[in-house]
Amino acid sequence: MTILVTGGRGRIARAVVAGLTAAGLDPRVASRDTSAVPGSVPFDLTDPSTVSAALRDVTQVFLYAEPTTAAAFVEAADAAGVKKVVLLSSMSSYADNEDAAADPHAETERVIKTGAYAVTCLQPGAFMTNAIFWSYALRATGQIRLPYLDAEEAPIHEQDIADAAVQVLLAGPGSPHDGRAYPLSGPESMTRRRQIEQITEVTGVPIEAVDLAPAQAEEEMSRGMRNQAQFRSLMSYWASRVGLPHPIEPGVELLTAHPARSWQTWLRDHPEVFAE
Ligand SMILES: NC(=O)c1ccc[n+]([C@@H]2O[C@H](COP(=O)([O-])OP(=O)(O)OC[C@H]3O[C@@H](n4cnc5c(N)ncnc54)[C@H](OP(=O)(O)O)[C@@H]3O)[C@@H](O)[C@H]2O)c1
Repeated sequence: MTILVTGGRGRIARAVVAGLTAAGLDPRVASRDTSAVPGSVPFDLTDPSTVSAALRDVTQVFLYAEPTTAAAFVEAADAAGVKKVVLLSSMSSYADNEDAAADPHAETERVIKTGAYAVTCLQPGAFMTNAIFWSYALRATGQIRLPYLDAEEAPIHEQDIADAAVQVLLAGPGSPHDGRAYPLSGPESMTRRRQIEQITEVTGVPIEAVDLAPAQAEEEMSRGMRNQAQFRSLMSYWASRVGLPHPIEPGVELLTAHPARSWQTWLRDHPEVFAE
């Protein structure tokens, strides 16, 4: 049973590989940059020849979501006889707002599910690793600049997403996870303002939190998004969560049999992010 883990340089992919290896498996790791990932095979979703070669004799795939290449992936995976795909999707794939239909994860889920193999979608909400982007502005300005500071999120640790993926992959095709989608959240609903306060409490780094007006946020943030619809979808999502505690999803505990890791745990696991 060969498991292909795509996106080898990604934080979640690296944790998935470590988890599978710890379980005694020898996953095939794939990356666009094989020199950065020892032992990996070339894999670029925009280059179909690398996709077909990486999929040879593969039973299961851990896949990052990319709508523009999803149809080509389905064709290659069906040709290779893949039995199961575990797709790293997002909670935004089922967001209840007018831009959600254009969400790249929703579109990827729709296309990836057309293959002959079984699919399990992992649908995490906001990643705790987003704070790495906050830290860049903090280093430059002493500020963290975000819209909707009072929006509630339940951010999730990348290790919990990887642990969930590993359990689904270990269960393999034919398990009760086939055809299921698992929303995944962290253990606690917190405003972004509270997350920033806790960065200071845990690391001692002083931070000025700046609540960006929507127009200012568009100017500062939208360039980093995959498309404008995704940015608008995120903005309306955050607006809808002001004063509204975020649901705590049971997915991590259900799949991994351990509680989801807290924001304080993430800050202690990544002291380098906010170190002065
Ligand atoms: N940030 C959030 O709050 C959040 C919430 C929910 C869902 N998500 C989703 O989670 C995913 C990963 O997020 P992240 O920030 O953790 O990413 P990341 O660590 O930067 O990793 C992304 C990975 O995608 C792979 N990749 C990119 N383009 C590729 C291509 N053309 N062909 C093959 N692989 C490609 C890369 O692998 P190589 O470089 O090794 O090729 C890269 O390692 C994204 O789909 C994102 O939308 C994010």
